[in-house]
Amino acid sequence: MSENQVNQGSDDMLYYVHMTPEQIQKFQKNFPSILVNEPMSKHTNMRIGGPAELYLTATDADELADAVEMANKETIPFYVFGGGSNLLVSDEGYKGLIIQIGFRDVKVREKTVIVDAGAITSAVARQSVTEGLEGLEWAGTLPGTIGGAVYGNSGCWGGEMKDVVVTVDAIKLADNKRVVYPNAQCRFGYRDSLFKHEPHIILRATLGLKTATDPASVKARMDEYAAQRKQSQPFTESSAGCMFKNFTFQDESELERLKNDVKEIPPEMLAKKSISAGWLVAQIGMKGERIGDAEISDKHGNFILNLGNARAQDVLMLTSKAKMKIRDEYNIMLEDEVELVGF
Ligand code: EPU
Repeated sequence: MSENQVNQGSDDMLYYVHMTPEQIQKFQKNFPSILVNEPMSKHTNMRIGGPAELYLTATDADELADAVEMANKETIPFYVFGGGSNLLVSDEGYKGLIIQIGFRDVKVREKTVIVDAGAITSAVARQSVTEGLEGLEWAGTLPGTIGGAVYGNSGCWGGEMKDVVVTVDAIKLADNKRVVYPNAQCRFGYRDSLFKHEPHIILRATLGLKTATDPASVKARMDEYAAQRKQSQPFTESSAGCMFKNFTFQDESELERLKNDVKEIPPEMLAKKSISAGWLVAQIGMKGERIGDAEISDKHGNFILNLGNARAQDVLMLTSKAKMKIRDEYNIMLEDEVELVGF
């Protein structure tokens, strides 16, 4: 799972230090609901993160575009996110403007669901099932927003956003133009999309579902996935979902290497050419390992829990240690799935 976010990274930003009081006043005048020094720990599922210099919940696409325009004019870095379910924000916070997508409209038109980026994915999934549709039931317990789910091509229980997205409406930040991309242009891959490579702000997605032939069985499937999640993943504690992407590969030579060098990898993972990062963390014996108040879940090795007052630094130390051990023992370099902000 992932958030809808954009990191503006032009070279001018290298010289950015702090906003001046005049700049802050300018934003306050134009966006009366804007917050100053807002703790990001209030907005992330991990409950970690220092203050954002400015924090705006944009209530529609125009307000969002106006805030981005002002940030550009003032050469202030900005970062856009949806639900905060997949973010690790630095203990020092974020110097610049953080914008949360606060528009969440959902329209169901027969088999098509037109949904704003800020809508909660699990709620959209449950609504689609209630309305007799099939195709999004796998997302009934997926954390985060639709924008984030599109951005990271989120998936679980065999479903993926790429299978339901018809079009995505966005702002392309290279020229600040509104664009509508059909699915084929979104370059979806495993936890990957065009939006991770070219800065955009996702505004809305149109999803194409099917009319359920047996709505009760679709509902039963959604309930079964929820039960599986409760059984295999930490559900009630604060976390950012999976910290690492699973290790996927295409190459036959990589398959041969793993078969020969690392005999204990379950054959079903080799067959899928996808090694569960959680399984790898379990193999190196790091489940339950704790630094400060950050702990690798005993239930699933790809989750780090905030047991109370964990700092971003504690989480990063744990992920770095896990990555190093897995690299040393398996010659596999795990990649972060979680998005890092303010580091
Ligand atoms: N496993 C272990 N120990 C662990 C974790 C997993 O032995 O600590 C084993 C399991 O027993 C199973 C295999 O590894 O045999 C795969 O585990 P699981 O079914 O939990 O799936 P996963 O590959 O670890 C992926 C997604 C999850 C998604 C689940 C279910 C990624 C990084 N993770 O996990 O997505 O919910 O499948 O479909 O792709 C997320 O993206 O944030 C996320 C949680």
